[in-house]
Amino acid sequence: MDDLVYLDNAATTFPKPEEVVEFMATFCRTKGVNPGRTGFDLALEAEGIIAGARAALARRFGGTDPDRLVFSHNVTDSLNLLINSVLEPGDHVVSTTVEHNSVLRPLYHHRERGVDVDLVPFDGHGFVDPEAVIARIRPTTRLVVMNHGSNVLGTLQPISPVGAACRERGVLFAVDAAQTAGVVPIDVAAMNIDVLCFTGHKSLYGPTGTGGMYVAEHVDIRPCRSGGTGVKSALERQPDEYPWRLEFGTLNTVGIAGLLAGQRWIDTQGGVEAIHAREMELWRRLREGMTAMDGVVLYAAGSEERHLPVLAFNIEGLPPEKTGQLLDVDHGIITRTGLHCAPLVHAGLGTAATGGTVRFSLGAFNTGADVDRALAALAEITEYALAGTRL
Ligand SMILES: Cc1ncc(COP(=O)(O)O)c(C=O)c1O
Repeated sequence: MDDLVYLDNAATTFPKPEEVVEFMATFCRTKGVNPGRTGFDLALEAEGIIAGARAALARRFGGTDPDRLVFSHNVTDSLNLLINSVLEPGDHVVSTTVEHNSVLRPLYHHRERGVDVDLVPFDGHGFVDPEAVIARIRPTTRLVVMNHGSNVLGTLQPISPVGAACRERGVLFAVDAAQTAGVVPIDVAAMNIDVLCFTGHKSLYGPTGTGGMYVAEHVDIRPCRSGGTGVKSALERQPDEYPWRLEFGTLNTVGIAGLLAGQRWIDTQGGVEAIHAREMELWRRLREGMTAMDGVVLYAAGSEERHLPVLAFNIEGLPPEKTGQLLDVDHGIITRTGLHCAPLVHAGLGTAATGGTVRFSLGAFNTGADVDRALAALAEITEYALAGTRL
């Protein structure tokens, strides 16, 4: 079907802007050499693109030092690097039950090594109480790592007060911004974030295989990895200076070029806030239509101000997988069903044993016509489900 409605933007945004695709192709054809390793002109040009991407992303996150914007493969890679570099047996770490497996699994790994892992639950509206997180901090707490926006529920978590409390107590505060980078404004200084971990392929409109972290100026991480940097090659250990301190081996230069083009594209669309306002207008229309339908159960969709353009739902009488299949096969609407790599969210919602939820997630390319198609499809599917329950 060539008129697919893509509502799985929280997994990865699709399509990518043509400008991103074109920029990567041109970069690959004309500058696809290994930068930072040598001084010939092409390498310097390629390095200029990478430096431009660092500067654009540092600016996007309110960071003042582009060298502290380090690149990785994705947010999972950044979170693993951070968590594995800072935690030692005997440490205490605070996190939440909203987390994605890219936080939970590294923490569980360290729990087996003697790290005490404390997970704060979310409330009935999908929010974590910042005071509850702060109350768990104790003298052995080495790290608080927290989700900024839930990939299941779309709720925006109150990270700033947690960051402020961590700063006062000398505890490292890291944020998983997979769902929020490029969706809502982020300012690492104003939000008291020590380490911001992001992925490039979602709402930053870069390709898959890109991501990184912004490490605040007062923070130093001793990396658990090491390797080639192209600088200070005689050193036996990783250089202390950023970005080399946290970058290992050849970068995904083509992908990073695409990520730079993604930042430029976001700016041509009026910026993060303008895109978000358009997406949330569609989200409200979708939510209103779904609220009016019999048989649709929405989860944590009450707050507009602290929400991403994500809607979690189920249809009474249908397993989420079946709903997703009907939306896809009969109506050409692409969604994501299941546990969304966040099993504790479903444990909290009570949807873990029944296959999770269905997720609609909107992106910059969605239109009102897409929302109308989704609502018409749901009207048909709920009728089918109701008829099934009557049999
Ligand atoms: C909240 C959250 N954290 C982490 C990830 C992992 O992202 P990636 O696969 O790009 O590392 C995702 C992606 O779905 C996410 O939504």
